[in-house]
Amino acid sequence: MDKIVIEGGKRLKGAVSISGAKNAALPVMAACLLTGGWHRLKRIPRLRDIQTIQRIMTDLGTAFKEEGGALEVNSDHLTGYQAPYDLVKTMRASILLLGPLLARCGRAKISLPGGCAIGARPINLHLKALVAMGADIYLEHGYINARANRLNGANIFFDIPTVTGTENIMMAAVTARGSTILKNAANEPEVQDLADMLRSMGADIEGDGTDTIVIQGVNHLRPCQHEIIPDRIEAGTFMIGAAITRGDITIDACLPGHLISLVEKLELAGADVDTGDRCMTIRGPDRIQSVDIKTMPYPGFPTDLQAQFMTLMAVADGWSMIRETIFENRFIHVSELRRMGADIEINGSQALVKGKDRLFSAPVMATDLRASASLVLAGLVAEGGRTEVHRIYHLDRGYEAIEEKFKGLGAAIWRESE
Ligand code: EPZ
Repeated sequence: MDKIVIEGGKRLKGAVSISGAKNAALPVMAACLLTGGWHRLKRIPRLRDIQTIQRIMTDLGTAFKEEGGALEVNSDHLTGYQAPYDLVKTMRASILLLGPLLARCGRAKISLPGGCAIGARPINLHLKALVAMGADIYLEHGYINARANRLNGANIFFDIPTVTGTENIMMAAVTARGSTILKNAANEPEVQDLADMLRSMGADIEGDGTDTIVIQGVNHLRPCQHEIIPDRIEAGTFMIGAAITRGDITIDACLPGHLISLVEKLELAGADVDTGDRCMTIRGPDRIQSVDIKTMPYPGFPTDLQAQFMTLMAVADGWSMIRETIFENRFIHVSELRRMGADIEINGSQALVKGKDRLFSAPVMATDLRASASLVLAGLVAEGGRTEVHRIYHLDRGYEAIEEKFKGLGAAIWRESE
């Protein structure tokens, strides 16, 4: 296992380019199961989660090849419909294979994704919607067994706006018989990116980006070319890095419109943010002002940036209240931040952060993807030596070469093997 070592105190300067979004690439890759022929996907990030879904799809008979900086995907000859436990347990998003496999093969056998560090992560809404579309689904020995000769369009209301639930049902509905209406659908940019890709495959989808999506089933889909949107969570992580180190950085190849909630909170914290069409500059303040946040579905403050923003508040002036409304256990990073001197009090879904003048270097443990990023940010400003972030395989799931990108901005950061 590797660890990341950081010597704090460097102000981030320079420019960084954002990779393709993990949470857009995963459903887009799953959608390639819906039809034969060669899809050409650009800006697929090099991440562990991408390797995992590629491995599962390869076992199903999908062919992959790298061509001219793009990933080409061909599902002409599917030989199976199972996603095994040993792979699904490492990446819950494997549930995204359920909808396309059911639509293409009429069968799917997917290991029930267990919970993870941040919560129970149920998938009841995915299954309820597929049953409404005519699928027979039963759970046995930890697997979801699903069958459907041909799915029927249905009117679906999501009790909660679920991102992968919306994506799964969109993929199931594009070749279903008749129309499907998704109400209280998720409207994250990654959902919209999948809809764009499905439309370029010949799907008939309207309303993505709102809470009501209408899909008219079609009889034929074709392979497509698609470029993945930039990763707004990676971009937000670097923005917070500039704010916390009193740095001055430019973020290239991003979409500022996907980060309006974070930009507003960073400006309240005292940062200067200038936004262009596909780039941003962020200058951190000499004194960071405390700001309250509450995580919400898009376009509200993203839960995937909550841990990173908490690190910023840990060295702000005054008190801030951080409310996590999406997942029930997404404060795991707090105990590690406390080891670095942060003053944080948890009360249920709320964390009260008392800003301190400084954090102190320490050996800390990564526990989940975004908590790991918050510890790296803390290390950038920690005093008194080196911060070591252990178990950084969590980071490698969702950030492409994060230490190289921070090093390119002037941070004293490197990777070592344990
Ligand atoms: C997606 O997870 C993202 N993952 C998560 O990013 C992100 O944090 C989350 O959306 C919220 O934005 C991918 O896109 C691969 P949800 P997802 O279904 O789809 C409840 C990261 O760090 N729910 O939108 O699993 C659920 O418990 C990851 O990149 C049900 O109750 O999240 C949660 O409280 C972490 N039943 C809420 O809905 C269901 O059937 C939102 O979850 C489905 C969800």
